[in-house]
Amino acid sequence: MNEQLQLYRTTTDLYRDFVMPTYAPKLLLVRGQGSYVWDHAEKRYLDFGSGISVCNLGHCHSAVTKAIKTQAQTLMHVSNLYMNVQQPRLAKKLIKHGFDGVVFFANSGAEANEGLIKFARKWGDPQGKNEIISMHESFHGRTLATLAATGRSKYREGFAPDMPGIKQVEFNDLTALEVAIDEKTAAVILEPIQGEGGVIPAEIDYLKGVRELCDRKGVLLMFDEVQCGMGRSGYFYAWQGYGVKPDALSLAKALGNGFPIGAFMVKREYAETLTVGTHASTFGGTPLACAAANAVIDTMHHENILANCQKQSHYIKGKLNELKAKHSTIVAIRMRGLMIGIELTCAAAELLPGLQEKGLLALSAGENVLRLLPPLNVTVDEIDQAILIINREFTAIEKSS
Ligand SMILES: Cc1ncc(COP(=O)(O)O)c(C=O)c1O
Repeated sequence: MNEQLQLYRTTTDLYRDFVMPTYAPKLLLVRGQGSYVWDHAEKRYLDFGSGISVCNLGHCHSAVTKAIKTQAQTLMHVSNLYMNVQQPRLAKKLIKHGFDGVVFFANSGAEANEGLIKFARKWGDPQGKNEIISMHESFHGRTLATLAATGRSKYREGFAPDMPGIKQVEFNDLTALEVAIDEKTAAVILEPIQGEGGVIPAEIDYLKGVRELCDRKGVLLMFDEVQCGMGRSGYFYAWQGYGVKPDALSLAKALGNGFPIGAFMVKREYAETLTVGTHASTFGGTPLACAAANAVIDTMHHENILANCQKQSHYIKGKLNELKAKHSTIVAIRMRGLMIGIELTCAAAELLPGLQEKGLLALSAGENVLRLLPPLNVTVDEIDQAILIINREFTAIEKSS
């Protein structure tokens, strides 16, 4: 047996014997560079999932790798009982992107959203408001509070009872929200562009209406930008594309380009809601994580990442519309920036193995949406390669059906 196959078999066996089977991975990836990853047999794949919107600057971006290396040799971790140089610098960068407030650092999207929910309850407590409204088809994470906020019931099955005080309403339906808000409502949480639910952008009038409604009813508006934030939509924060500012928001995924870090931010007027001792996280905001995220944001500026995202968004939209005209399997194309959903007549998960076999890693969302989340520095040539593969895959499935 050759060495590569040996590595594959050993790794598969180790997974089978020692890793909890909450995922079912088959492909073994061993390295990545830019928009590409390679498997154990040196086969190259275009990664149009970016690790589910994490590696927005591509794999192993040199500036981020360098920052991690340098910081790892200097100071990796100190507890939040002490200051470190990187954390407030990162907080300032996030704030200077147009959200005047303060930041709490966590490690993941769920933890950041958990923080938002705690913030809302703490804010509402003196007024007897402790309930949160979220949206059908939303996804906010796998902890118990964020599961309760997640509007896809299949994720909650078997984990009853749900954390109380969270209910869902229809997304993009202002009347449903107005009816649901009552004197116990502390906050509304939503993704400006739903990701896992099927790449469903909020309608602009809806989002403006939600802002107006929350203001009128004295309810906090909180955005989960874990997937759609950090430039994915073509704007640093997705809400900037709508001109609708939340009272609080969460980030994670692409914030560290692969180094785990999450954050939530609240408007300055709420800066004193969570005070000393009311919230904490051992690993939140370590010098290492924050050095990685600082390098991510600096690189976004140095390399004009938002401009590239908008430019390539326009390019790929044209290409996808051409595909739609050719393939009856495509029902609709929904996108903001490089957050792309291709609604299909069939289950999207069925296409993924064929795409992978042809050298393209993509994702599904909802039941029948093929989701593409390419790196934001993707090139025209890489988009052309991906389109060619998608075209071949659609042609193959349409022939066989
Ligand atoms: C919108 C949104 N919120 C929260 C999460 C949870 O993030 P994490 O997996 O880092 O906990 C995700 C993950 O896909 C997400 O897409």
